[in-house]
Amino acid sequence: MYRLIDGKEVSNYIKSKVREEITALGEKGIKSTLAVIIVGDDPASRVYVNNKKRACEATGIVSREYALPEETSEAELLALINELNDDKEVNGILCQLPLPRHIDEKKVIDAISPEKDVDVFSEINVGKMWVGDYDVASCTPKGVIELLDYYGIPLEGKNCVIIGRSNIVGKPMASLLLEKNATVTICHSRTDDLSFFTRNADVIVAAVGRKRFVTADMVKEGAVVVDVGINRDDNGKLCGDVDFENVKDKCSYITPVPGGCGPMTIAVLMKNTLAVTKKQNNV
Ligand code: GUN
Repeated sequence: MYRLIDGKEVSNYIKSKVREEITALGEKGIKSTLAVIIVGDDPASRVYVNNKKRACEATGIVSREYALPEETSEAELLALINELNDDKEVNGILCQLPLPRHIDEKKVIDAISPEKDVDVFSEINVGKMWVGDYDVASCTPKGVIELLDYYGIPLEGKNCVIIGRSNIVGKPMASLLLEKNATVTICHSRTDDLSFFTRNADVIVAAVGRKRFVTADMVKEGAVVVDVGINRDDNGKLCGDVDFENVKDKCSYITPVPGGCGPMTIAVLMKNTLAVTKKQNNV
């Protein structure tokens, strides 16, 4: 019998802890502000940004939204980021991705001051994570670790297979699992004989961005399956990278989509905003 990993419950727990600390900071006259930039009107990005705003309200973090039109130039966006870098009232900055094609994402990410980079996308912060010297960790991978910790799922010595090698999920996920003394393999869409790896995995983290890509025959009996994917099926219904209905009965633990990793990313974003605020105020 599998156990469902409830990302809503864990994210609410984390946000309640963040709220307590934000309230305590407020009593010392310190407030925490997150600036969120969104360029254009991608509907998925709009949903994510609204969810981030709602989480700020729930935790007592002040959110400032900068909604810029699709035709905003790279120079204009970089100028706004510079302004926010210099703004003492702003503790954290994030620029919702993807950006319109005429804007160089990497340039934008690295323009955000590392001290305010709550997404942990900048080269400096990615490097700090890899050497284990960091104050904030990438939101989605850290959210996965928080979920596994909350349920007491051991990682030390375990065979963990990540499917997906993105800078946002796959690569930083490997770093955090290594830190937990797991044995880590990063597979991806072009891995030969992917099942060879996944069938031997104690933990599978699916972050490949393909709907229901992980099927029951790829999963070992008793495995822990974490689904980071957010896709839409042919009927427009949200679904993950895992064929949940057929995989679940082989698992000891599995995350649903929605309600698994999604809420955790935002909870960790709140945690990161709190952490940078404390650091900037020497708390
Ligand atoms: N687009 C998809 N996920 C994310 C995220 O975690 N942060 C930002 N800034 N953009 C995203």
